[in-house]
Amino acid sequence: MAVFLAIESSCDETAVAILRGEPGGAAEVLASEVASQIAEHREHGGVVPEIASRSHSLCLGGLVEQALNTAGIGMGDVDVFGATMGPGLASSLLVGSTAAKAMSCVSGKPFVGVNHMEGHLLSPFIGGTEVPPHVGLIVSGGHTLLMKVKGAGDYEKMATTRDDAAGEAFDKVGKMLGLPYPGGPEIEKAAKDGDPKAYDFPRSMMQGGELDFSFSGLKTAVLYTLQKDNNAKIQDIAASFQTAVIEVLVEKTMRAAKLARTDLIGLSGGVSLNKAVRSAFEARCTKEGIGLTIAEGTLCTDNAAMIAFAGLLRFFAGKTDGLGGDINPNLSL
Ligand code: KG4
Ligand code: ZN
Repeated sequence: MAVFLAIESSCDETAVAILRGEPGGAAEVLASEVASQIAEHREHGGVVPEIASRSHSLCLGGLVEQALNTAGIGMGDVDVFGATMGPGLASSLLVGSTAAKAMSCVSGKPFVGVNHMEGHLLSPFIGGTEVPPHVGLIVSGGHTLLMKVKGAGDYEKMATTRDDAAGEAFDKVGKMLGLPYPGGPEIEKAAKDGDPKAYDFPRSMMQGGELDFSFSGLKTAVLYTLQKDNNAKIQDIAASFQTAVIEVLVEKTMRAAKLARTDLIGLSGGVSLNKAVRSAFEARCTKEGIGLTIAEGTLCTDNAAMIAFAGLLRFFAGKTDGLGGDINPNLSL
C-alpha cells in the first residue's frame, strides 16, 4: 500500500491529487484538486506563460493543504511525491516539480517524475492498478496520439498529428467563430443547435491505411467558409467541424485497433470530454464488438490524479527519480 501525492502544473491548471494504491489491487483517488486559470488567460485569447507560472506558484501551497484535508491525511502519511516533468510550458513545469521535489527532500520520501502524456494515456484505468493491453487515443490541446499499450510502461507510438492537435483545432476554430477560449467546450455547445451536414468539411488523410492525423486543412476550410459566406451560422459550422473531427478520430482509432489486433480502446484527454466524441466512439465500438474505456469526466482535462496514477504504477515497478532530474518541455512518450 502506498500513498502518492502528485502535482500537475504543465499548462494552465494547477492540480494536486492524492492516490492510495496497492500493487495488484485498487487505486483510490483520495483527493483531486484543480485550480483552473482559464479566466486569467481568457482575455488574452490563449495561455500566457508568465501568468501561468505565477498563478501556479501562488495557489500551489493552498491546494496541497486542501488536498491533504480532503484526503483526511497529514503530510507525514504520504509515501511518495511526484510531479509532471513534461511536456508543457517550462516555467510552469518548474513550479510544480520544484514544489514536489522540495516536499520529497524535506520528508525524505522518494520522488517520481511523470510524463504528462502517460498520465492521460493511463487515466481511463484509474481505479485498479492493472493496465490491460489496448490501443489508447489521447486527444488533448497539444497532442493527438494513438498508442499501442502492452501494459503500464510498455508503449509503442502508432500515430500522431502532422500539424495541429485535435484540441488545438477546436481552440483555433473557436477563435475564428468569435467564441471564448478554450474553444472546445464552446464548439460543443454551439454544435448542439447546428446542422452537422451543413458543410462538407475535409476529412484529411483518410486514404489508404494512413494512421497519422492532420487537422490544418480542416481549420483552413472553416476559415475560407467564413470569408466566403457572411451569413454562415456559427452553430452549423461548429456542428459540421465537430463531425469532421469525430469521423477522423473514430476511423483512425478503429484502424489502429485492427492493426494492433486488440479488442480494447482507451480514450483520454480534454477532447474526450466532448459528449458527441464519447457517443460516436461508444456507437462504433458497440457495432464492431470492441471494448471501450473512457477516462471519467473530471479526469479528461488536466488533473493531478492521472499524474499520481502513472507515478504510482512507476513506483510499483521500482522506478524512482533523483532530485537532480530536469523538466523537459518537449518530453515525448
Ligand atoms: O487534456 P487537456 O486538458 O490539456 C492538454 O494537455 O492539452 O486538453 C485541453 C483541450 C483544449 O484544446 C480544449 O479545447 C479541449 O481539450 N476540450 C474540448 C472539450 N473540453 C475541452 N474539446 C472539445 N469538446 C469539449 N467539450
Ligand atoms: Zn493534458
